[in-house]
Amino acid sequence: MQKVCLTVNGREVSAEIDERTLLLEFVRDVAGLTGTHNGCLEARCGCCVIEVDGDVVKSCNVLAVQVDGAEVTTIEGLAPQRLAPVDHITTQSLAGMYRPLEAVRGTPDDLHPVQAAFHRCHAVQCGFCTPGMVMVLKDYLEENPEPTRDDVRRAIAGNLCRCTGYQHIVDAAMEAAAELRGDPAPEGAAHGATAAADGG
Ligand code: FES
Ligand code: FES
Repeated sequence: MQKVCLTVNGREVSAEIDERTLLLEFVRDVAGLTGTHNGCLEARCGCCVIEVDGDVVKSCNVLAVQVDGAEVTTIEGLAPQRLAPVDHITTQSLAGMYRPLEAVRGTPDDLHPVQAAFHRCHAVQCGFCTPGMVMVLKDYLEENPEPTRDDVRRAIAGNLCRCTGYQHIVDAAMEAAAELRGDPAPEGAAHGATAAADGG
């Protein structure tokens, strides 16, 4: 057993853990942040991507002891400021599983621009891949503010989505890039306009 201490979304989390504990397991089971998903445990699907000291990593491919002392950001850390937790379970809050923003009494303005673009562009179906996609794209767009659609496809090459066919994810990335650059939204433009412009 070994003591590991990480700062996760600004909160210090420490525990005595088996040296074989994956960073993914630490985040989910010790820090209790289940937005980071386990899709393969083989560094193939990208569902488990988080940031460690500013770089994205597949957290199933890293031991927690290897990053002792690191600053970690998970999907829950991207928009933590204003979202209120659901304080009690009701029929309405369960129905909110299909309207998650309403369930936590949030609005798209509460979200990181990549999350908000996913919401606008319907880039989520089952949502299992979404946390990893968002984390990868957040990191990529910070470094590459003017990507082409092909650049975005290359950026998410390590992330698998079984549902969407990727088109709306690329749409969302292009909209998020424009917002992060501070470009004014084209008047009357709906999401996907960039897809039409470059052939999808
Ligand atoms: S669970 Fe880490 S890449 Fe699939
Ligand atoms: S939305 Fe279902 S796997 Fe991507």
